[in-house]
Amino acid sequence: MLNIRYELTKTPKTKPDQKNLSFGKYYTDHMFVMDYTEGKGWHDARIVPYAPLSIDPAAMVLHYAQESFEGLKAYRTPDGSIQLFRPEKNAERMINTNKRMCLPALPVEDFVQAVKAFVEVEKDWVPSEPETSLYIRPYVISTEPHLGVRPSNTYLFLIIGSPVGAYYEEGMNPVKIFVEDEYVRATPGGTGFTKCGGNYAASLASQIKAHDLGYSQVLWLDGVERKYVEEVGSMNCFFKIDGTIYTAPTVGTVLPGVIRMSCIELLKKWGYTVSENRLAIKDLIQAGKDGRLEEVFGTGTAAVISPVGELRYEDDVITVNDFKTGELTQKLYDTLTGIQWGKIPDDMGWTTKVL
Ligand code: COI
Repeated sequence: MLNIRYELTKTPKTKPDQKNLSFGKYYTDHMFVMDYTEGKGWHDARIVPYAPLSIDPAAMVLHYAQESFEGLKAYRTPDGSIQLFRPEKNAERMINTNKRMCLPALPVEDFVQAVKAFVEVEKDWVPSEPETSLYIRPYVISTEPHLGVRPSNTYLFLIIGSPVGAYYEEGMNPVKIFVEDEYVRATPGGTGFTKCGGNYAASLASQIKAHDLGYSQVLWLDGVERKYVEEVGSMNCFFKIDGTIYTAPTVGTVLPGVIRMSCIELLKKWGYTVSENRLAIKDLIQAGKDGRLEEVFGTGTAAVISPVGELRYEDDVITVNDFKTGELTQKLYDTLTGIQWGKIPDDMGWTTKVL
């Protein structure tokens, strides 16, 4: 149990127009901060006014990227209360990431307590317009000033919050995806299953290439044979072929997404066959050409459920479901967002009330 000190701002910011939030543009009035010192553990949990950090220019995170992050959201329900979606899953994933990145673990109950305390303080920042939420970004950075390559002796755990709307400009309209066959995101034994900044830094060159060609995101292939589909830039990816739903196995190179996991649970409950066997890009493209590729969608906390209307692989351009949102994609979106925003009963037990 954390003992949190509160130092609240005397100069709250003007809140942005909830109808024009976009993603990750505005930040709330406060941040959660906690120190870690080797031999002492986590200490000095506090919620303080949002402000620039003062860290040493030699801080290890700035040089060797020893860090991890998470993403989850707080939702405003129709009765005005606020809830989180499966926050303990983010806490568990951060433990796995931190282990791989040699970062200190944060117990699940402390992670969830910190997120709840932060959201309570920032309750007026949780928007109520349709499809808006407060995006919560917990992260750990290594702060020791040292230029030798080894784990740091000191760290900071922080939480910042950003009121957000849709992640993609397209909103719930289908996005176009470019299948990357040059760069790779992850290889077995690497960090693909973690949420570390380096994974995203390494994806940027490919994202720029895709944007220049008119595509919103990249679909990554496996890093060894460049033969099997893995995940999309900021989302896991699902394919409905002949009634069966395929998504890449989380065997070390794919991020174990909380929305991915929730979609699999819902799909199984609805009686669908979900295959987590590897799917070859050639078979996917062939299914598209034969008219057997019924729907494609991405899943993620930021992106929610995002229909994919076009896939480009080498010289093949496949249009999915006439560039329309598929029936199952829509049903998943309606069910998940219905539970998240408290519009339908949560019979999966996925939500945690904050206030
Ligand atoms: C999320 O969906 O929460 C993510 O972390 C994706 C992101 C990098 C925006």
